[in-house]
Amino acid sequence: MSVTYLSSHTHIAGRKCMQPRRRSLALVPAAAVGALVACALALVLALKRSRPPPEMATAAAAALALPPIGLGTFGLSPAKAGPAVRSALAAGYRALDCAPVYFNEREIGDALSAELVPGGAIRREDLWVTSKLASPFHRGEHVGPALRKTLTDLKLEYLDLYLVHWPVAFRHVSIDPDGPRGWDGPDGAIDYSIDDSDGGRNIDPSVTVGETWSAMEELVDQGLVRNIGVSNFPAALLRELLAGCRIAPLVNQVELHPYLQQRGLVDYCRERGVGVQAYSPLGTPGYRDDELGEAEPSVLDDPVLVEMARGKGVSVARLCVAWALRRGTALNAKSASAERQEDNLAALTDPVELTDADMELIDGLDRGHRYFRPEDWWGAAGAVFD
Ligand SMILES: NC(=O)c1ccc[n+]([C@@H]2O[C@H](COP(=O)([O-])OP(=O)(O)OC[C@H]3O[C@@H](n4cnc5c(N)ncnc54)[C@H](OP(=O)(O)O)[C@@H]3O)[C@@H](O)[C@H]2O)c1
Repeated sequence: MSVTYLSSHTHIAGRKCMQPRRRSLALVPAAAVGALVACALALVLALKRSRPPPEMATAAAAALALPPIGLGTFGLSPAKAGPAVRSALAAGYRALDCAPVYFNEREIGDALSAELVPGGAIRREDLWVTSKLASPFHRGEHVGPALRKTLTDLKLEYLDLYLVHWPVAFRHVSIDPDGPRGWDGPDGAIDYSIDDSDGGRNIDPSVTVGETWSAMEELVDQGLVRNIGVSNFPAALLRELLAGCRIAPLVNQVELHPYLQQRGLVDYCRERGVGVQAYSPLGTPGYRDDELGEAEPSVLDDPVLVEMARGKGVSVARLCVAWALRRGTALNAKSASAERQEDNLAALTDPVELTDADMELIDGLDRGHRYFRPEDWWGAAGAVFD
């Protein structure tokens, strides 16, 4: 397959854990409590209703340390990012999932500073803002500057959660802290170099996950991030990290949807008290490998899901969100449309009933299909998953 991805995202536009850090409910902002309680009730009811493996309660508790539904921002163009964030906040979203490799953090920051005005309806402490460490900044000395750049772009003093985006380090790329988007080239065009592995040639195999994680822990010590976590970590790597960390990852954010259910990984995280956050919970319909074309399956068009959603009078998207919550996972769903943002969030306020039979039907749809395939962008040297 010959794909023209620069790498992961640009194609679209594209020591022992002594005291795992957990955010107590007492610290959750008042405006988020309603949504958290609603989700807790939905999860508790769901757990009581059917198939209650005892470990689900642990997973639900871990997931509840996070807002259950966040707005994904991958694929939002700079022009669309600000309006999308503002409509999401108006709809009731209080969690945003950002990343410098989405090349829109500056515009999201503009939208946030327009909302977070003194006396405004939303206070900083009402929000949960996540961003991610990009691959060229995994070397210990580069982690802090990368975070500070993201804080500058988002116009925030701290993040609620900072994730290691992928467990693959690239060679360092210098950043202009004063650049318009931080990452922009001299002609004003977006400079995608922070997301360019050059087909794997920019991968730096000498940086260990432990080195990166120690620097992440220091950001917590400095008060620049409230929580740290990982993304796209397979169980074996997570095991290594947990064995050597001082602060345990709050969460592992991974691709999860009915076509990629990753039960083993979800169970592993549950056992180890690591929250699981689903990305691409709708099967990322806006992100397609053009070469695969129709061969790339579409979750939202799955006939079983379409039929089930029709029977319940909801969209397939809302069904997918409800399924993710029912599994005890938090999630980030992206939409630029105010209407679809509301539809996705409604899974909290207007829960979709999923019976055991429904869950079994959806279980049967798993086909291990990944939409995000790092080996396609980074070659064999960038393989993350078996
Ligand atoms: N950690 C990682 O490596 C990683 C990787 C991928 C994603 N993520 C995060 O997870 C977020 C979500 O994943 P994603 O953006 O890949 O995919 P997704 O949320 O599964 O799907 C987003 C797509 O679904 C459409 N959509 C949204 N709501 C809909 C609805 N109710 N009905 C029909 N279509 C709907 C959106 O189109 P419209 O915008 O036109 O509504 C968009 O094209 C990302 O935005 C990002 O924040 C993280």
